[in-house]
Amino acid sequence: MKVGVLSGGGDAPGINAVIRAVVKKGIQYYGYEMVGIRDGWRGLLEGSFSSLDLKAVSGILPKGGSILGTSRTNPFKREGGAEKILENAEKAGIDAVVVIGGEDTLGVAHKMSELGLKCVGVPKTIDNDLVGTDYTFGFHTAVAIATEALDRLHTTAEAHHRVIILEVMGRYTGWIALEAGIAGGADAILIPEKPFDMDEVCEYIRRRQKRGRNFSIIVVAEGAKPKGGAEILYSETVDEFGHVRFGGVGYYIGKEIEKCMGIETRVVVLGHLQRGGSPTAFDRVLATRYGIAAIDLVHEGKFGYMVALQGNKIVSVPLKEIVGKRKTVNLELYDIAKVFFG
Ligand code: F6P
Repeated sequence: MKVGVLSGGGDAPGINAVIRAVVKKGIQYYGYEMVGIRDGWRGLLEGSFSSLDLKAVSGILPKGGSILGTSRTNPFKREGGAEKILENAEKAGIDAVVVIGGEDTLGVAHKMSELGLKCVGVPKTIDNDLVGTDYTFGFHTAVAIATEALDRLHTTAEAHHRVIILEVMGRYTGWIALEAGIAGGADAILIPEKPFDMDEVCEYIRRRQKRGRNFSIIVVAEGAKPKGGAEILYSETVDEFGHVRFGGVGYYIGKEIEKCMGIETRVVVLGHLQRGGSPTAFDRVLATRYGIAAIDLVHEGKFGYMVALQGNKIVSVPLKEIVGKRKTVNLELYDIAKVFFG
């Protein structure tokens, strides 16, 4: 049996840990031949492959990025794209594919499964917005990086008596903002699920001032928007899955605070620092468990499924149940965070 592996969409710390687990168990336990598919679905469209033997995965566990590369290629946006993929998979002798991705990449896996390509999914995104799983790998690392940033921003904000706004990733959901905000003791957390009111934000800062706290830290997810307003875009150009690029809401908030409070603000956009570099121990373990479970599903012939974490158990969920949906933040957690606002 020949098994292909691909990673698509934005990278997330832990992709290489998944690849390593899939390849090690695939070769050593099941005697499979493994093949790397380059740059997500593009590799199958263009017939671009790389060797994935034990040597290729040696030493990659702590590495960020993806040894296979990644892209946001959507084969359904290309004329005859799906047919080309089936043709190239057959030509390369690929019997099954382990697809590491978020909703877009796994959405393609679902459609391709229905067309006859044998796929197993692994949930990846730092945004943690995939349904069917408690955690996607990569999220824990992003939260750890954002929390460290908040700790560092606290000391400088306090020394300068400033308001500092940290803009983190999270296009449609505020998971990173919420968890890092709680862990980093943010004075306000603004997320896409809860449009914000600038008067309320200023009131939080005022409340702190009354207690003699002349600095504040605000975390905002890139997709957060003001009540009655729209998200702030960096660019309206859409990618192949129809996503615009968010960015700049931190600057909007910073300027509004300067206007209403007359207080000096600074804005930090954390950006891709949240996605780069080494995964945390938690993400290495989760990614390893996912990789092992994915190759086990291949061995069982259970295609059209995604491995998932529910409670502390690794389970499998039909891809058709997770596509086209989004896991928004846990509102009980948001209520906990709110206790510390202002
Ligand atoms: O993968 C999800 C994500 O990290 C979003 O939070 C963010 O908006 C987007 O990717 C950025 O993607 P790109 O790498 O295309 O800038």
